[in-house]
Amino acid sequence: MTIRKDNKGSSGRSYRGEGGLTSKVKKKRGLSASSRRWIERQINDPYVTEARSKGYRSRAALKLEQIDQKHGLFKPGQSVLDLGSAPGGWLQVTAERIGLNQGKGKLAGIDLLDVDPVSGTLIIKGDINDDEKLAELVAHIDGKADWVISDMAADTTGHRPTDHLRTTALLEMALDTALRVLVPGGGFLSKCFQGGAEIELLTVMRQSFDQVKHIKPDASRSESVEIYVLCTGFKGVPDDYLFAD
Ligand SMILES: C[S@@+](CC[C@H](N)C(=O)[O-])C[C@H]1O[C@@H](n2cnc3c(N)ncnc32)[C@H](O)[C@@H]1O
Repeated sequence: MTIRKDNKGSSGRSYRGEGGLTSKVKKKRGLSASSRRWIERQINDPYVTEARSKGYRSRAALKLEQIDQKHGLFKPGQSVLDLGSAPGGWLQVTAERIGLNQGKGKLAGIDLLDVDPVSGTLIIKGDINDDEKLAELVAHIDGKADWVISDMAADTTGHRPTDHLRTTALLEMALDTALRVLVPGGGFLSKCFQGGAEIELLTVMRQSFDQVKHIKPDASRSESVEIYVLCTGFKGVPDDYLFAD
């Protein structure tokens, strides 16, 4: 568990980088064609450049920034749980929006991986399925959240149906967490990979919230099946809903 009062990572990394012209990665022994393509895409991606220029740790930060700009998610002083935080881009955006640096709001995040500190934020290394870790997170935000946001994604296997089921299981855990901790009127934002298995979860969302929208921010790659579900106006847990053990 780490709470730091400044904005630097423990590694002292600045996260700022430089943008660039279209670049090619030279053929090198040991680098597969797909790795080379991935690196070229990163180097030439304008959102990677924009994220770096804004000091964000991840390209993903821009997705949340765009969603917040368009849908007006956060207000100063709110309490937020961020699930699947590494490397911390969403935490950076949220901290700024809820005014953590001015002593407003509460923010806690969890990831299987290490996350460098974000000023005033509780970051736990662990699995969202671990009840003790969840209890620690929830205690930090005094037991209630205005928002639960989740960008959790499972490592891909390359087998699309398997990847879809694994990511949908994470969506289910994120929704289950939201239903436990949201205040009335609260909101839930989560990554969702379309493929069929998510339909039952969408039914629970529609029963629990006033509004459920599918959104695709510009920074989400068009070729990806990734979308985000944005649920607002938490009404309460459906009568027949069974919480995960
Ligand atoms: C796309 S990344 C999140 C990027 C992050 N929103 C950002 O802006 O930097 C997805 C993360 O979900 C995390 N994750 C996957 N399964 C998880 C689980 N069961 N509990 C906690 N985190 C998990 C992964 O470790 C990974 O770091």
